[in-house]
Amino acid sequence: MHPQTLAARFYEVFGAHPTFLARAPGRVNLIGEHTDYNEGFVLPMAIDREVRLVGRPRADDWVRLYSLNFEAHAAFRLSALQRDNPPGWADYCKGVAWALQQAGYALHGFDAVVHGDVPIGSGLSSSAAIEMATIMAFQASNPEVCLSPETAARLAQRAENEFVGVRCGIMDQMIAALGQVGHALLIDCRTLEHTAVPLPKGVAVVVVDTGAPRALAASAYNERRAQCEAAAQMLGVPALRDLTPEEFEARRTSLPPLLARRAEHVVNENARVLAAVEAMRANDIHRLGALMSESHMSLRDLYEVSSPALDAVVEIALSTPRVYGARMTGAGFGGCAIALVDEAQVGVFIARIQYEYPRRTGLTPRLYVSAANEGARWQPFTPPSSIPTHRAILAHQPPAEPPLCAERGDSIFREIPDPETPHWWWCRDKRGRRGRVHERFFEEEDYRFVLREDFCAQELPLSVGEWVMLIEAYDGWALVENAHGERGWVPERALVPATPPR
Ligand code: GLA
Repeated sequence: MHPQTLAARFYEVFGAHPTFLARAPGRVNLIGEHTDYNEGFVLPMAIDREVRLVGRPRADDWVRLYSLNFEAHAAFRLSALQRDNPPGWADYCKGVAWALQQAGYALHGFDAVVHGDVPIGSGLSSSAAIEMATIMAFQASNPEVCLSPETAARLAQRAENEFVGVRCGIMDQMIAALGQVGHALLIDCRTLEHTAVPLPKGVAVVVVDTGAPRALAASAYNERRAQCEAAAQMLGVPALRDLTPEEFEARRTSLPPLLARRAEHVVNENARVLAAVEAMRANDIHRLGALMSESHMSLRDLYEVSSPALDAVVEIALSTPRVYGARMTGAGFGGCAIALVDEAQVGVFIARIQYEYPRRTGLTPRLYVSAANEGARWQPFTPPSSIPTHRAILAHQPPAEPPLCAERGDSIFREIPDPETPHWWWCRDKRGRRGRVHERFFEEEDYRFVLREDFCAQELPLSVGEWVMLIEAYDGWALVENAHGERGWVPERALVPATPPR
């Protein structure tokens, strides 16, 4: 949700203007799974979905939050932090407050409206995103709190481990803190040294949410950690990170078979991460894809954290032309898979998943094409004093879109997603006219895409200087309503906030 929309909601809830915007992204991990808590290597990238807080510092020790995702309030005092049972969304914020205070910071509270478009519980790390966005909000509200991204990540991990009670590793918080546009991040989880690695050209990372519940994820995750710790102890090393594949092979018989399988995955996965970095540097997408697929097989057969739904996505992906590799991402047991797809083939790949996956599993997939985003940050937020709230004025004539027009029920040929504005696709209508269409307009029938509403590229004709009500803003586009109550989407850059006419 656009910061201006959040600011308007903040004004409604708290009766004042927000002064800061804090944000942190979700993530996918390209390769290096279940290696972080073995002090090994990971290669995640931050995605373009994030948690945002618009807020205003308070002079006392209250934190008051309003979540737009849950349409729910939460309030707590920094001097009396109590975890809810079971933990809810606000406990990630309380946990961060707890960890900062444990580190010796005397904090003031803040009021904030919170909204995230990182899917919750899908393995894209919405929890690290809310933790890191909350740390940014505390930094914005307390000038003496000035943390390096690594320290912020460590504190967020501590919040999750010790306050919320989830024994995660450091990967999610590190990438939420340090993501870079266009890059994945190689992280050494022992030293926290990190290097940005440019994403290869000509390919897209497509995220497929299996829509399957993450069964037994927490207990199985903790069990895997314990197995790795036991294996390292039996092999006489501080962590599995300390063995090369050759050293491990020479000593694997000293482990019981189950622990040997777990350790084999971790040791080889670390080596695969380093090989993947080399492949990316050489723009060798075939090699990178092959390593990703090998990682999946290892997680499926040796580490046993995949699921039938994740395996189905990977199988469909690998049988699609010009898909270079695919694997589950994150902890596993459900959640998301990723595929490395030729940019020109993304539309075909998505259509195949949307067609095949429900037929195989009875589940509905959700798909995201994500660019690599930057990490957590905060910035002062100063809405113009004239109370813009929902009002805006059209400052520039929206650029004329190519004249694609089609009627409800017409077939539409979806070409590729628009890399500039997610959720918009370049499409052709049946007369061959090309234009960009927001995905909410079409639905899939077999391999065809059918319009569910009439669509004309120039949806809402407006003239410069016309007053409009800003309903919602989304990925560079704003849904506005004109004086006659007609709604349509215009590019956000065509609008400037201003006072309503009297
Ligand atoms: C979860 C944890 C991470 C990491 C992955 C598996 O996402 O939060 O720390 O262990 O699983 O790689």
